[in-house]
Amino acid sequence: MLFLALLAPLLQLAAAAPTLDVAEGSSNELLKRGDGSGIHLVNCDGFGGEGTIVPPSSHVVYCANDSNCNFSPSGDNICTMGVNFWFTWEGHAQACTFSTGAKFSWFIDSNAQSQANFAHVGDGGNQFRAYAGYKDDKHTMFFRGSGQCHSIYYFI
Ligand SMILES: *[C@@H]1O[C@H](CO)[C@@H](O)[C@H](O)[C@H]1NC(C)=O
Repeated sequence: MLFLALLAPLLQLAAAAPTLDVAEGSSNELLKRGDGSGIHLVNCDGFGGEGTIVPPSSHVVYCANDSNCNFSPSGDNICTMGVNFWFTWEGHAQACTFSTGAKFSWFIDSNAQSQANFAHVGDGGNQFRAYAGYKDDKHTMFFRGSGQCHSIYYFI
């Protein structure tokens, strides 16, 4: 329902903007990509200390508002791809199903790490919309204990 609530103003905007070039798919693009959500492919550093060893891990993290995404995700918004190792994100089709039932599928180019930060290096989608994927700058999004979790790629 939140999704529909976010979509409603966009539908009105699209209807009120007859100059949008539908032939080029602009209005479709607006509807598909205009909900503000983002999905990050994240690698977390491992750490050890005081008897607690946390291994490195890799996760897919959903953000309802990608402009406000640097915090530890709730359980519904994180999908784990690897524990004890960093998952190889590049070069093969992948998917992860969140506990909500949302399934995100994506592809990252095999040479993505040799591209510039923020370059378009992949594509993805879930049951709700399509996303374009970009190389991220490895900024820290959140911590697991004293281990940092870095954004390697993002989809918006
Ligand atoms: C998304 O986050 C940004 C940055 O915090 C904020 O300015 C904006 O209002 C948020 N958008 C929504 C729809 O909550």
